[in-house]
Amino acid sequence: MNVFGVDIGGSGIKGAPVDLERGDLAEPRHKVLTPHPATPDGVADCVHEVVSQFGWSGKVGITFPGVVTGGITRTAANVDKGWIDRDARALLGDRLGMPVTVVNDADAAGIAEMTFGAGAGRKGTVLLLTFGTGIGSALFRDGRLIPNTELGHLELNGHDAEKHASTRAKDDEDLSWEHWANRVQKYLSHVEMLFSPELFIIGGGVSRKAERFIPRIEGIRAEIVPAQLLNNAGIVGAAMAANTQS
Ligand code: BGC
Repeated sequence: MNVFGVDIGGSGIKGAPVDLERGDLAEPRHKVLTPHPATPDGVADCVHEVVSQFGWSGKVGITFPGVVTGGITRTAANVDKGWIDRDARALLGDRLGMPVTVVNDADAAGIAEMTFGAGAGRKGTVLLLTFGTGIGSALFRDGRLIPNTELGHLELNGHDAEKHASTRAKDDEDLSWEHWANRVQKYLSHVEMLFSPELFIIGGGVSRKAERFIPRIEGIRAEIVPAQLLNNAGIVGAAMAANTQS
């Protein structure tokens, strides 16, 4: 069965129908640039543009880069503040004329990785962390998601951790892989102290370059592996989340 998945990111909004049996895109995805500022109405227009490319009608799952509870977006660290306390499910559902499910982007990526990727079959405590414009987190206990953990906003050396250890920080401060890996190591060590996971899954676009930094990370007890679904984890996880909503 197919369900449509859309991933709202800092630079692009991308989507495709997802084959839920295979955990993969059923057709090549379509991407449009995220408007700046990323206001609710501007983003809703882009989501509509992506979905309409496929002549889709049916369930749609949509990721959002902030806290989402019951379809309401609660925070907006890297998008327009107009999203705070907005009924995103109603806004996007009305714009599309279809039933939508809205989930946090890292939670969606985690859901996909735990079924089809690096976390498949893994029990115990598993933490997926996405490194990009911000740092997203998805916490699983015996395969069950505890949503909206927001571990990117832990305080590290007096700073919001994502300001210090995201790939945006790497780019903005022009950090070498070694220097950035050192920051990621400090961050993981702090998260490990709090949660003692058995496994860290490193997601986000940078997971494609895992060999540049994961081998440089030392002193962490948990196993550290790159995510496997790469760019499509959010789209696949969004569709999976929409499928479990009645
Ligand atoms: C947001 C999270 C999001 C992460 C990755 C953070 O700034 O607070 O909700 O998962 O960025 O996009």
